[in-house]
Amino acid sequence: MINITKIFKTPKMKMPHSRKIDLWKGSDFVRIIFFFVLHTVILWALFLLGGLVNVDFDVSAFWDKLSSSGMVSTVGYGTCAIISMSICVFMYFFFENRNFIKSGKNVNLIYIIFELSIVVNFLTGHYVSVYARPFALCGLLALGLVNRRAGVFMSSIITILTLIFDVFAIGASSDGINAIAPVFIGFTTSLIAVYVALESSRSRMRFLATGAIISLITFVFAAFIEYDTFLSKEFWKIIIYGAFSGMMAVVMDMAALPIFEWTFNLVTDFRLAELSNYNSKLLKKMYEEAPGTFTHCSYVAMLAEQCASAIGENAVLARACALYHDVGKLEQPEFFTENQKSKNLHNEITPEVSVDIIRSHTKNGVKIIKKNRLPQIFADVAEQHHGTMVIRYFYAQAQKFYENDLDAAKFSYPGPKPKTKIAAIIMIADGAEAKARSLKDRSSAAVDQAVKEIIEERVNADQFSDCDLTTFDIAVIRETLTKGITGIHHDRIAYPPLKIGK
Ligand SMILES: [Fe+2]
Ligand SMILES: [Fe+2]
Repeated sequence: MINITKIFKTPKMKMPHSRKIDLWKGSDFVRIIFFFVLHTVILWALFLLGGLVNVDFDVSAFWDKLSSSGMVSTVGYGTCAIISMSICVFMYFFFENRNFIKSGKNVNLIYIIFELSIVVNFLTGHYVSVYARPFALCGLLALGLVNRRAGVFMSSIITILTLIFDVFAIGASSDGINAIAPVFIGFTTSLIAVYVALESSRSRMRFLATGAIISLITFVFAAFIEYDTFLSKEFWKIIIYGAFSGMMAVVMDMAALPIFEWTFNLVTDFRLAELSNYNSKLLKKMYEEAPGTFTHCSYVAMLAEQCASAIGENAVLARACALYHDVGKLEQPEFFTENQKSKNLHNEITPEVSVDIIRSHTKNGVKIIKKNRLPQIFADVAEQHHGTMVIRYFYAQAQKFYENDLDAAKFSYPGPKPKTKIAAIIMIADGAEAKARSLKDRSSAAVDQAVKEIIEERVNADQFSDCDLTTFDIAVIRETLTKGITGIHHDRIAYPPLKIGK
């Protein structure tokens, strides 16, 4: 049974990774406008192709129609409408999500969603029925791959584009209410779908609920519009098409999402869930080759997830990033304390060589993450999670060898410092988890003191100046970590030796 209160529960807002807005240079405008023009031309070509589909690919009939009176202005209207839509799309993303469209890859993503949706809508309308169109597909894809705002906006644009294709595509037969009513139904169902199918926590049950709600609305609207054919064969056909449209939108969304994720290397909750599974390739490798690092990453992931949730960041993303933050240690796992069983290999080399090995795990992490085509944000966190902190242990070791003042930079991580709140959370959780392991007293007060020291050390080393972590966030993170770490290392009563039977 579908729980209606759960469906309409207000979703937790997914916070942006960073509030910093990149400045655009002239070359950025040229590059991005090129992609917009390219895709406007593709949409226009599809529009003409729609005309060809309407005459069943009869080229001579197509030319006859094109040269008939009034057709030039019809094509002109359609062309102007497509260009206007592209301008609206550019304006929306430029003012609402400028960082997102700075990448040509993301402009391609937006337009491929439009192009796929318009082709599917047009062909379904032409060959099956206008009521069978999986109208919500565009909004659902935008919701899953960009965000909910984009889902709402792109639903509006696809509605207008479909209307343009229906009314202006050369020789289109639809007119009046026959053209507008199905598009209106599509628009309503798309918007409802975008709000019902949440950005986060999208389960199979929620997908099913979304499909069912779209189908129900399409069914009610179609029944009203087609009331003059009530209970006729035609009427039942429309009802079935209505039910088909909602489910098709959801099924096509589920099928297309992984293809988009893979092609554009995108981070969605589904992909994050897959990558956070302990059976995924790299985590399995870490478990086998660096079990200590694997355990450490698992603890940091749990703590980072709690901290992210506490300060309103994306908890699923924080958990996944934390699981991979030390993946670079896979290059030389035996040089990291958590994987050493008996001998310490650093006793056989100089502190300088040790430092080189230790700090290389951030860059090696980036290399491994890129090689395995994991999301860019994983690489960013792997690179930033130690910032420019001094590797204290080996710096102290080197001080024993050399009497002169040492250059701290030579014993520090290369950076950069954390650029996002998630990277900053993982930096703190990483240090706190490691420090808690060395504590003999793991009472709440002792853990809190250790967490406080870790935070102070990083604040004093100016590690959070490149991200927008606030003092309030830091206080919440401290409290969350203390609670989380105390929970992990809770005391257990010693079990008495037990003899069962004789
Ligand atoms: Fe690390
Ligand atoms: Fe770590």
